[in-house]
Amino acid sequence: MTGHEGREPRVLLAVCGGIAAYKACEVLRALQKAGCEVRVCMTEDARRFVGETTFEALSKHPVATSLYGYAESPIPHITLAEWSDLVLVVPATANVMAKMASGIADDCVTTTLLAAACPVVVAPAMNVHMWQNPATQANLATLRARGVHIVDPATGLLACGEVGEGKLASVDQIAQAALDLLGCHNSVRHFCDTNDLAGMRIVITAGPTHEAIDPVRYIANASTGKMGYAIAAAAVARGAEVELVSGPTSLATPPGVRRVDVTSAAQMYDATVQAFSAADAAICAAAVADYTPAHPADHKLKKGREELDSIQLVRTKDILAELCRTCRTDQVVVGFAAETDDLVANATAKLMRKGADLIVANDVSRADSTFGSDTDRVTLVTADGAEPHETLPLADVATLVLDATRDLLEARR
Ligand code: CTP
Repeated sequence: MTGHEGREPRVLLAVCGGIAAYKACEVLRALQKAGCEVRVCMTEDARRFVGETTFEALSKHPVATSLYGYAESPIPHITLAEWSDLVLVVPATANVMAKMASGIADDCVTTTLLAAACPVVVAPAMNVHMWQNPATQANLATLRARGVHIVDPATGLLACGEVGEGKLASVDQIAQAALDLLGCHNSVRHFCDTNDLAGMRIVITAGPTHEAIDPVRYIANASTGKMGYAIAAAAVARGAEVELVSGPTSLATPPGVRRVDVTSAAQMYDATVQAFSAADAAICAAAVADYTPAHPADHKLKKGREELDSIQLVRTKDILAELCRTCRTDQVVVGFAAETDDLVANATAKLMRKGADLIVANDVSRADSTFGSDTDRVTLVTADGAEPHETLPLADVATLVLDATRDLLEARR
């Protein structure tokens, strides 16, 4: 995308100290996908929520955290203000908005904002009472009157536990507001649907497995396969070649996906291990049975004739662990964890135990992220830490999982 003297539009992302600071990472990625060049400055408090290393890695540039010691310039506020086509403040705290309204410049972010002659977009996030406080509302009115563009916060469950106005607007809304002001008449969604996975081969496991007791009876679980199928559909839409190893489900095969139907954990193991050798990444979303009957009957068991008062079970082979064991350095393996307690601790233990690159942990005790739901609330767990997300439609969770898989692959290569 061009339009600014033939170069990419430049956005300075100013990150302030609120719990929503982690969302600024996603805003940065959305703007990059839309073709913008992004640099970052942060307040001291923002660094307590997200380290500058994250923003440095994402923006591929040093992050300005102070008016002193910035690697790219001895006067970072002037250099960054002149460099920017637009400054985007995410999340904007009540404090920073008050400083902006009063012209206070006492750190890197507020000094740069005072020096900026380009359009400024502010995305506030805070507690509902702080938001409704007349001081905050007066500051907002002042900023609006001066032409600052405000991306109004949403109403919902706030990080502090209260319900009300003050929740950061969605990543798409914020990125779209910036693009609109930059004169880029394209939608964020459009850019998220790029061919960024072209040439990538991904094996995805999905659904439950059925473990035979006899030819007509089996042990199963409540998985519907919706998550794995959503990932397969999204991956194909972004240009990937997808082999979907599916347990028994009632779902239609997404167009463009090569589907291999299996029934048991043993069959899923064979099909997945074989497909993985020619793949770049595996995403194990299936709810594979951990146990299978040791001696399935080859005929239908008849009550009265044969007593069935117990079934001897044996452990199945762990597909995810096996893929991790044989994983080449240029391959990535992603697993899922369905937990009811200690989500992050259990998912981190699973990550280490199985040797996966990423575990997508979901709290299946919640109605909005349990088996069969059309939404999921996931936390992405890697060796670098845990990244919680709000409840999202499965298609958006698929986007998150694929973005993370792509980033892990890019980091490898
Ligand atoms: N998995 C697998 N093969 C198995 C069992 C699980 O590939 N035989 C994969 C699942 O697809 C998922 C991850 O491993 O990606 C999580 O499996 P889970 O059974 O929840 O984890 P466990 O390590 O078995 O731990 P626990 O049952 O105690 O939660």
